[in-house]
Amino acid sequence: MDCAYDLAATYAENFQRGPRLSSPPNVSVTPANERVEFLGIPVNSRLGIAAGLLLNAKWIEGYADRGWDLLTYKTVRSSARDCYPPPNWAFVNADAGEGPVYATDDLPDDPADISSAVCFGMPSMSPEFWREDIARAKTVLHDGQLLIVSVVASPEAGWSAEQVADDYAQCAAWAAEAGADVIEANYSCPNVCSAEGQVYCDASFSEMVTQTIRSAIGVTPLLLKIGVFPDSEKQRAFLHAVADNASGITLVNGIAREVRHADGQPVFGDDYVKAGVMGRIIHEPCVTAVREARAVIDSEKLPLALAAVGGVSGAADFEDFIGAGADVVMCGSSPMYLPDLAVEIKHSS
Ligand SMILES: Cc1cc2nc3c(=O)[nH]c(=O)nc-3n(C[C@H](O)[C@H](O)[C@H](O)COP(=O)(O)O)c2cc1C
Repeated sequence: MDCAYDLAATYAENFQRGPRLSSPPNVSVTPANERVEFLGIPVNSRLGIAAGLLLNAKWIEGYADRGWDLLTYKTVRSSARDCYPPPNWAFVNADAGEGPVYATDDLPDDPADISSAVCFGMPSMSPEFWREDIARAKTVLHDGQLLIVSVVASPEAGWSAEQVADDYAQCAAWAAEAGADVIEANYSCPNVCSAEGQVYCDASFSEMVTQTIRSAIGVTPLLLKIGVFPDSEKQRAFLHAVADNASGITLVNGIAREVRHADGQPVFGDDYVKAGVMGRIIHEPCVTAVREARAVIDSEKLPLALAAVGGVSGAADFEDFIGAGADVVMCGSSPMYLPDLAVEIKHSS
């Protein structure tokens, strides 16, 4: 199987080289779907790539050329941050429980059945680099494509809630200034234990951060990326708290599970026994989360769009999310091993 991200290389090497995409760009065969609107912006399709795989403008270009229309620039910070040491990505055996998942080299015959675990720690280049690179990324988009930039705060010991909010807002303002069509504030990261990994679990903190970001970016559309909630009441409280200032919600981030080798050793080391699991294994719970969010948004008339993420690796998965009430559907890990999936899904939808 060809992998666009070289699992044997470091993050820095993958960043420098850009995606390993062997087949020629396929955008000429992308069906000219009728334009649809997302967040008030006309776009070619309801299909995109979630924050993660698109490390920089080189990666955005490779995937924009393959017909992916909603492209999310991987999460950036207000100061440079190294990636966790490798390994950062492992394929894992799928089971639907809550116990450990196990790394495997024995991949399913159909790549659409793959599940992964990743643990990068949200590395970031310095703002000087990424502000220029976002401007570059804008120039490689095709007509009807959209650049979403994911941002996160980088709290230091002793920071107040207001300082965390200001740091989110600073990154968001820089990203908007650099040309992002949409900002996505990452309120959830299964591999980061500090405050920025769990914002969405605290409704009033989320409300304050969202309000602060909104003041910094004017009318630029704002998505909030969240994880699964422990219960539906918490999800409802969150949606209410942010509805005045956010434009939409991206759900969900990877689901935290223990990730181990067959001999029990943690794949990502003793400090990160739990990591974000993604792909086939999480599709069903993510569809449920989207259906529940849609029910709250509709019944309480909240002005929020829904971007669905989780285990999409074929047209049927895409349709599951549209059926559950998503406005758009984003793929996280599958474009790594199925780079031409956008063309396939757009042909059949
Ligand atoms: C390599 C990789 C890196 C990721 N990094 C981020 C990130 O920086 N910020 C973020 O919000 N989500 C990140 N994610 C999570 C994805 O956006 C997405 O929520 C997750 O992969 C689930 O979607 P999937 O099942 O389609 O893979 C990352 C995912 C992958 C595969």
